[in-house]
Amino acid sequence: MSTTFTLDTSTSRAHPVPEPVRRLTVPAIAARKKDGVTAEPVVMLTAYTARMAQLLDPHCDMLLVGDSLGQVIYGLDTTVRVTLEMMIAHGAAVVRGSYRSVVVIDLPFGTYEGSPEQAFHTASRVLRETGAAAVKLEGGEVLAPTIEFLVRRGIPVVAHIGLTPQAVNALGGYGARGRSEAEAKKIAADARAVADAGAFAMVIEGVMEPLAKAITAEVKCPTIGIGASPDCDGQVLVVDDMLGMFERVPRFVRRFDDIASRITEAAASYAAAVKDRSFPGEAELYRPKAKS
Ligand code: KIV
Repeated sequence: MSTTFTLDTSTSRAHPVPEPVRRLTVPAIAARKKDGVTAEPVVMLTAYTARMAQLLDPHCDMLLVGDSLGQVIYGLDTTVRVTLEMMIAHGAAVVRGSYRSVVVIDLPFGTYEGSPEQAFHTASRVLRETGAAAVKLEGGEVLAPTIEFLVRRGIPVVAHIGLTPQAVNALGGYGARGRSEAEAKKIAADARAVADAGAFAMVIEGVMEPLAKAITAEVKCPTIGIGASPDCDGQVLVVDDMLGMFERVPRFVRRFDDIASRITEAAASYAAAVKDRSFPGEAELYRPKAKS
C-alpha cells in the first residue's frame, strides 16, 4: 500500500484523515482511457503547499506541483528561474498533505533537457526526496527518447506539449499554439512521439481546440487539457487562477471563486479590529484562574 497520510493532530492544525485511504496509482489513471474513451474525466489541479493539498485532494485524481509556483508563490516573471530545490520542497509538502491523489512534480528548466541521464538523475532525486509518483516534463519529439529512458527505468512521466512555458524565451510569449497548419502538424507529431515513448498522460496547453480534440482521439494515453478542449480526457488549472487570486488570468481560466476579494475583506476587518481594540476579545484571552 502506498503512502497513507497521518499527522499528529495534537500539535498540528492539519485535518486528520478519518481512515487509511488507498492512493490512486499511475496505472489506474492510465486505465481511465479504454479503447479511446474516458468515461470519467481526470481531475487535476496544481498544489504547492500541504494545506492546499489537503483541501484539494478529496476532489482530485492528480495534484500537480507545477513550476508555475515560480510565478504563483515566488513572484518570478517566468518559470525559467525555478530551481530543483523549490520543486522538491513544495513537492514533499504536497505529498505530506495528500493521501488519495497521484502527485506529479514538474522538472524545472535546465534540469532534464541535456540528456536522458541528466533527466534520470533529476527525476529519481525528485521521486526519492518527495515521495511523489511521477514527474512532468515539457517537450515533444525531441524529448521522446528521454521519456522512454525514464519510463523503462521505472519513472512514470506526464508529457507537456503545445504551449510550453519554459520555452517562453524561444516562443516569444504565451500565445496559443497550432494556428498555422505547419505548427498544428508539429504539435500532433509531438503528441504521437511522447505517447509512443510511454508517457502515461500528457498535458496539452494553449492550442487550437480542434487540434486538442484530434490528438485526444488519436493517442492511447489520457490527455489533460488546459486551454485545449472539453473533449480532452481530463482538465488541469493553476489552483490560484481558478480560485480568483489574480486579477489577470489567461482566457482559458474560469474563476470558480473570488478569493482575493475575500482575503482583502478579511484583512481589512482584522486591521479595523486591531485599531479599535475590539480584537482580541474576552474569548480570545487567557485569564489567570481565580484563587479559591
Ligand atoms: O506549471 C504548471 O502549473 C503547469 C500547468 C499549467 C499544466 O504546467
